Amino acid sequence: MEYSDDPPVIRSYLAERDSLIIEWNTGQASRFHNLWLRDNCACARCGPHDRGSRHQLLLDIPEDIAPSSVSVRHGKLKVVWSHGGHRSEYDPLWLHAHSYGSSVVRGRSGLRKTLWDSALGEWPSVRWDRISSDRAERHRLHACVVEFGFVLVRGLGTENDAIERLGEEIGYIRETHYGRVFDLVTRVRPTILADLAGSLPPHTDEVYRSVPTGINIFHCITSSPDGGGISQLVDGHRVAAHLEEHHPDDFELLTRVPVRHERRIQGQVIIAENPPITLDFRGEVAEVRLNERTMTALRADQDLMLPTYLALRTFLRIAYDPIHRIEYLLKPGEALVLDNLRVLHGRSAYKGARHLRQAQVMRDEFFAKFTALTEEMAAGGDGGHYVDASTS
Ligand SMILES: [Fe+2]
Ligand SMILES: [Zn+2]
Repeated sequence: MEYSDDPPVIRSYLAERDSLIIEWNTGQASRFHNLWLRDNCACARCGPHDRGSRHQLLLDIPEDIAPSSVSVRHGKLKVVWSHGGHRSEYDPLWLHAHSYGSSVVRGRSGLRKTLWDSALGEWPSVRWDRISSDRAERHRLHACVVEFGFVLVRGLGTENDAIERLGEEIGYIRETHYGRVFDLVTRVRPTILADLAGSLPPHTDEVYRSVPTGINIFHCITSSPDGGGISQLVDGHRVAAHLEEHHPDDFELLTRVPVRHERRIQGQVIIAENPPITLDFRGEVAEVRLNERTMTALRADQDLMLPTYLALRTFLRIAYDPIHRIEYLLKPGEALVLDNLRVLHGRSAYKGARHLRQAQVMRDEFFAKFTALTEEMAAGGDGGHYVDASTS
């Protein structure tokens, strides 16, 4: 149910045995069950539902609850319930947005994911100097990560603690064994030609945690003088979509068979076992976990071991295919913010002194900020649909 300009108005209603049918000014109709309506009463007694203070208990409502009277006054739907004479009032905007199956209230999905491959073009980016003063730029930063899985932040500067300012802007920095911020440096002398830091194939980070890195931040302090160390990104959800389309059996297997990842560090053993592809309740790809460096012995059933290996090989072949990869050499003062459960990252080999700093913020807080910013933007009337990969 979409409407463009006119707010929804209740034109008429029809009470049926277990539900109420609302006819809107658009000509469309929505069915709401009596039980649903009564359960969603947000009067002073029932309590607001989005402040953690809902006092309504579902079991206190009879299963066959029905209205004793229904009316529309000042545009609002008013219901008096047969049970206890409780009075409920519903705002048409809220009701319309909460029509069953409505796309309006799907949380962070105010923007859809745009899957990409090597043809993406210019990387979506924001300017750090605009972030604090410009709500639209803040929203854009989050929106790019929601839509593309990543964004480039320009103009962050090369101060050592700049990454913490960025992290605190977009969420809460998660402290792990690596600390709050981790320095990615080669401990080599750049004058020695043999001092080469190898390439890293695209991967997701910290798959050995039951809650892996959420939003990854990489801040470039110094780039390698040899022009190496090029960042490579792969849309893991695009890769999964490719797998689903061309190798459905492999796809299905990798949503079902767990792969074990392990990391021994500082006297602790961190182990997580999850399928490489996680679907949400709609059956859509929600999370991708892929990192060959931390995989430990597969523990599949005997008859699934070889099929799982073959499926993994197919998945890796697609993930490592340059057709799915985009590349960019981070310049000093630039940072990359990416959703680690969507976008795989890797780098080309390099020689010399390269210094990146890495931190992570939790996904929930990052997306919570996005939702709040989206609401603010909608209320402020400056829209939220301007994300464009080609804008820099
Ligand atoms: Fe990594
Ligand atoms: Zn109530």
